[in-house]
Amino acid sequence: MSVFDTVVRLIYLTAAVGFVLGLHMMNSPATARRGNQVSAAGMLVAVVTTVVVIVHDKTITGAGWAVLVAGAVCGAGAGLYSARTVRMTAMPQLVSIFNAVGGGAAALLAIDDLVRSAHVIPRVAVTGALDIVIGGVTFTGSLIAAGKLQGLIPGRPLVFPGSRLANPLLAAVFAGTAVWLIAQPKSTAALILMTVAALGFGVTMVLPIGGADMPVVISLLNAFTGTAVAMAGFVLENTMLITAGALVGASGSILTKLMADAMNRSIGNIVAGGFGTGDCAAPVTAGMGSVREVSADDVAIQLAYASKVIFVPGYGLAAAQAQHEAAELGELLERHGVEVDYAIHPVAGRMPGHMNVLLAEANVPYPQLKEMEEANTEFPRADVVLVVGANDVTNPAARRPGNAVSGMPILDVDKAKSVVVIKRSMGHGYAGIDNELYTDPKTGMLFSDAKKALAGLAAAVKTLVGS
Ligand code: TAP
Repeated sequence: MSVFDTVVRLIYLTAAVGFVLGLHMMNSPATARRGNQVSAAGMLVAVVTTVVVIVHDKTITGAGWAVLVAGAVCGAGAGLYSARTVRMTAMPQLVSIFNAVGGGAAALLAIDDLVRSAHVIPRVAVTGALDIVIGGVTFTGSLIAAGKLQGLIPGRPLVFPGSRLANPLLAAVFAGTAVWLIAQPKSTAALILMTVAALGFGVTMVLPIGGADMPVVISLLNAFTGTAVAMAGFVLENTMLITAGALVGASGSILTKLMADAMNRSIGNIVAGGFGTGDCAAPVTAGMGSVREVSADDVAIQLAYASKVIFVPGYGLAAAQAQHEAAELGELLERHGVEVDYAIHPVAGRMPGHMNVLLAEANVPYPQLKEMEEANTEFPRADVVLVVGANDVTNPAARRPGNAVSGMPILDVDKAKSVVVIKRSMGHGYAGIDNELYTDPKTGMLFSDAKKALAGLAAAVKTLVGS
């Protein structure tokens, strides 16, 4: 191996260490931001090194450079613009689009390699076929997921006649044609059939998924993207792609498992299709009693005289951008001697870690953020639980079978001494069902926009206790 190759490998290794360190730092909200910077720096080093390798090996000439530079400028520009301008609530759609782009690019690499190589060795045929299948499924599946989250396609599970059969049928086609392609890597028919079947499978896999189950599928598609990129690395014999793809694939798989557990869903059901259908459509309207409306002044008195208050933030807090008002009220109560915690459900909001990101932005002290298991042991001690724009993640209906949130672990808000729910109306949450918490006799409803309500509560508490 030449000195140049050795240096390149050492630089790639350094970049890979940066990815791993960055991922590790994302374990804690306190170091997550720095972790992101470390990983991004690793990626920059990897990209610059790859360009140097291309120049050194003269693998691209003339028009090839124009295509490469144009692609890099357009891709980086679009990525920078969308990441900077996206609303926090639209982040899952953006992640989904990024998954689609990553999976699609990985599949195109393998297609290009199989078509252009004069002779394809068996190892490349195997990884190439896997890359095209996984990348193709990720491409269309992620586009459908983004469309559902953006409201361009109905978000509910979409089933059509024969859709139960479509998944196994398409899976059989892409598996069969993959074997054919591995045996005859230059077969255009096998390549086309396999690609079309994989693209079709992405559509039929995601269409029947809906409601509260979407976060798991997005995380799964993220893991697929990483795996497709790793396969592309094997095709191109690029260790950097293999490492980066394997890290995304592994971390995405772990996240998928954690989220599936948090929703009490099985990952097998997702791939089999029909996930989120069946009894999930049943509403829980029967037996809903009457609700008790409370005023901001009543709630302020409750808060000011409480020993322990737990905030439960949800999607409504994000939609109202009320994180600073929540933090301000929490800080005010703490100064007044009230013990304050924030209970974080793993799928509160619309993306993993949504609530952690928002509360970190508002400088809520990390020790006050309690994960679901810990928070559930604290609720019985809480004098007041302030539910701010959270709905499904507090719905006691999850403890019963036969509805859209059945089996989903929830925050046991109803175990507290009293509950105040801030939301604008009796409108449903993401799962589209009534929340039995709202008719619990110990629950008071404060109907308002979250930002306005929290600011009003802080002002009322200040009047009671002084600032
Ligand atoms: P949701 O169940 O979606 O409920 C949010 C509530 O916020 C709504 O009922 C809405 O009621 C209220 N709201 C909206 N805008 C508001 C505003 N400006 N001020 C005050 N309230 C407002 O939220 P959740 O409890 O956080 O649960 C999340 C759901 O999303 C789960 O079903 C989860 O599975 C799903 N999901 C999660 C993710 C991830 S990864 N976190 C991704 C996709 C889907 P009003 O309209 O009456 O105000």
